[in-house]
Formats: sequence, C-alpha cells, structure tokens
Amino acid sequence: MLNGRRVLLAVTGGVAAYKSAFLARRLVEAGVDLEVILTDSATEFIGTQTFAAITGRQPHRSLFEDESVSPHTELARWSDAVVVAPATAATIARIANGVSSDLLTATLLATEAPVLLAPAMHTEMWEHVATRRNIETLVEDGYRLVGPETGELAGGDIGVGRVSEPEQIIEALEALFDQSGGGRRLVVTAGGTREPIDPVRFLGNRSSGKMGHAIADEAARRGFHTTLVTTSDLPALPSVKVVRVETAAEMQSAVLEEEADVAVFAAAVADFRPAEVFGEKVARADGMSSITLQSTPDILASVVGRQNRPFVVGFAAETGGVERAIEKARAKKVDLLVYNNVSEPGSSFGSDTNEVVIIDSGGQTDPWPLMSKREVARKLVDLILTTIDPQG
Ligand code: CTP
Repeated sequence: MLNGRRVLLAVTGGVAAYKSAFLARRLVEAGVDLEVILTDSATEFIGTQTFAAITGRQPHRSLFEDESVSPHTELARWSDAVVVAPATAATIARIANGVSSDLLTATLLATEAPVLLAPAMHTEMWEHVATRRNIETLVEDGYRLVGPETGELAGGDIGVGRVSEPEQIIEALEALFDQSGGGRRLVVTAGGTREPIDPVRFLGNRSSGKMGHAIADEAARRGFHTTLVTTSDLPALPSVKVVRVETAAEMQSAVLEEEADVAVFAAAVADFRPAEVFGEKVARADGMSSITLQSTPDILASVVGRQNRPFVVGFAAETGGVERAIEKARAKKVDLLVYNNVSEPGSSFGSDTNEVVIIDSGGQTDPWPLMSKREVARKLVDLILTTIDPQG
C-alpha cells in the first residue's frame, strides 16, 4: 500500500527523534519515495547524515538554505502524505495555531496532503490544558494522530507520552491511504430543513449540519463517490459533490436523483410544513393566529422502499432514552441507526462532539464514548465498510 507513495517525514526535537531513523529505514524498505525535514532542535538529537544515508537524499533543513527557492510549497505539493514523528508539544502548538515560522510549519500550512502526527512528550505536558486544546483543534482540523503510548519516558519516568513504535506509525500511515470505499457511491443528507411560511419566515430546527458534513468528508477521503445534500453553508472537501437545498421536498428530489450504494440520513428533516405559503410577507396587522400544517415526504422511507435499495443508515436525534430509537430502527427498516440524545450537553445540536449509540438491524446496541463529530464520522464509515463487506 505504501510502495511508490511520496511521503514527507518531519522530525522535530525530542529524544524520540532517534526512532525516526528506524521509521525512515522501514519506509524506504516499503518502497516509499521519502523526503525528510529536520527542525533545528531535531538536529540536537540526531544528525542530518543519518537520514541522508538512509534515504540517499539530503534532509531539508531551512526555508532559506535549500536547493529550491520555495522548498515549503514544493514539498507541500510533492507530498502524498506527511508524517511528523516525533511531534513535540511546541510543534503541535505551532501547527494548531497556523504558525509558519520554519520550513516544517510553512510546509504544513501549504499542503493539502493528509498529515499524521506522532506526539512525544512528558505526561504533564501531554495532559496540560493547552496541549489538550491544541490536540482537539488539530483533530477537528482533520489531522490524524497515532499515539502517544504509555511506557518509559526520557529520564526514566513512566506514563503516557511515549512516541508510537515505527510499526504502529506505518500502520496509521497506511490507513491514510485507505481507499476501501473503492468507488462506491454514497449519498448523505445534512442540516435542518427550512419550510417557508412566507418569503421571510420559515419553520426550522437547530441542526447545524456538522455531523453530515463530517461524514461526507470522511467518505470522500476513503474513496467513496460522495454526494452531500445539505441545507448548511458549511464547507466540504472539493471531491464531494454538494447539492444545496432548503426544504424537505427539495432534499427528497435531490436524494432520489442519486444512484447510491450507501445512503446516510444525517439531516433533521421537518416532519410538517405550512400547508399554505404566502407569496408576500405577512404583516402583523394581517394577523396569523394559526398555521395549518401538512406532512412532508419521509425521504428515508422513500429510499428504503426502492427496488435494489442501498445500504441505509438513519439517525435518531431524541430527547429521551434509546428504547424509542431501537423501535425506530426496526420500523424504518434501516441497516444501522445512529441514536443520540440531543438534551445531553456533549451531543446537542451545533456541538462539535457527539455521544452516540449504534443500533443494528437486529436491534443490538453499541454505545460509543463521547468523541468529536469527525471521529464519529470516521468510525461510522469504518462500520459501514465492515458491515457491507465483512471480508474487507
Ligand atoms: N427522515 C427523513 N425524512 C423525513 C423525516 C426523517 O429522511 N421526513 C430521516 C432522518 O434524516 C433520520 C431518520 O429519518 O435519519 C429519523 O428521523 P426522525 O426525525 O428521528 O424520525 P421521524 O420518523 O420523523 O420520527 P419522530 O419525528 O416521530 O421521532
């Protein structure tokens, strides 16, 4: 999986820098086309000649003393993936804040390639609130992490903060290149629909679209041909086909237009819409003591009812326990249902985190811990893939 890939290995200044020499050797053996960046402090721990001998190329050291006049943009465009190992607390802080003060951080700011960080530091530094905040930001920004592990640290202390072993880093790197979506077509709905009352007002809900957008990005990264039907203005990766809609009816026609192997219904669709939509803004003086409602189409049901239906994942945002969602999974005949309790603080609409319970078609439940919506998306795409193709 790594043969022929162009990987940039960035080594920063920690005792664990010596392990990156072993990592570099393993990557070269795996057929990787490898370039190395060494930061100034990395060279306090390991020499440039070590990497030159392993890779057959001089490591890159500086923005200004490189053969290239623009080494950061060249390396950024050249890389299929970037691995920062070890990643010190200082480097993590700089990346999380978008600082571009040296060759490594400028390259990371310029690249569109996936980036894997292998943190290494003392336990106190790893657990410091500032590092926690930086790591959360980086995960939210789409950076991947491997480790840190628990074990012996510099100076003989024991705790969390040890850099992952080269084999673990290589495994995580292979996952970056995972295209197990294999060209399958996936459609995902996102956001809350808006059902107009008049040209100014609508009936809506608090859904932000973050969960559905995270799923679309993750699916696209994993090789699915992805269509996102959304009411939200949030961005999506360039490889995602985005169809912006507003109402349940528009969302339904956009979804039914797509041929899909997998359909994920993360949108909060209004169940009712005003039966009459006024062409002009209704003035206060006109009075409007009630609004007559009519049902909207059940988009999920219209897809489940199709011949050759796709693999269907529903969502159930509830304010009560999981029992109602288990019944919903059965009644709606979905292959998977993602339940969350939106009255819990970490799972509310608009939150960056979610605590979900996965319900399968047999009603079996699997509670996942509180995690970022990106991580939920990653695990959900994994689960979809292993369920539709257990042999992998
Ligand atoms: N859904 C849909 N179209 C609708 C309503 C819901 O596609 N008109 C999808 C949602 O995207 C979600 C699933 O169906 O994946 C369950 O939505 P939910 O609102 O929880 O279910 P309802 O059937 O509307 O049940 P209730 O409102 O009674 O909880």
